[in-house]
Amino acid sequence: MAKANVVLVGFMGTGKTAVGRVLAEKLDKTLVDMDSMIEAREGKSIPRIFAEDGEPHFRALERKLVRELAAGRDLVVSAGGGIVLNGANIDDFSRTGLVVCLTATPATILERVGDDTNRPLLAAADKLGKIKTLLAARKPYYDAVACRVATDGKTPDQIAAEIIKAYESA
Ligand code: S3P
Repeated sequence: MAKANVVLVGFMGTGKTAVGRVLAEKLDKTLVDMDSMIEAREGKSIPRIFAEDGEPHFRALERKLVRELAAGRDLVVSAGGGIVLNGANIDDFSRTGLVVCLTATPATILERVGDDTNRPLLAAADKLGKIKTLLAARKPYYDAVACRVATDGKTPDQIAAEIIKAYESA
């Protein structure tokens, strides 16, 4: 039987939020965007959390939220790009959900994140260089997720359809 939740992980700009919206609608599940939830709880933006409280604090907030969400049912979770860095997050999510890693090339990611200033880890003059470096450093973590879907050149609808297939046979 299919697991209760679907959890989308993957680098920034791989489409987790856009695909999550379509998936939640099609599977009749509740969409939870982790970044938005953390911002609402903290009453400040992700860049402010990073600047004022530091990345370790942000990771602790993520960790706490993962434990709560993994105990939930019928959720589509759009996780933050760094969620894979703590193996316990993936272990927890995998217990109650299908974890799917969305992938994209650095060029696609750059196109999608564009001039967005809401991602402190990509704040650099050479954004493409920053994307390549961070993506390379994280590759082992994203590759460790068994179910992966490439998103380059696809619409959120097409990507969601692929995920639903995987979900129904999981
Ligand atoms: C991060 C990704 C962001 C956000 C934060 C850190 C990361 O989420 O959680 O800026 O470490 O990759 P998105 O992947 O939704 O942009």
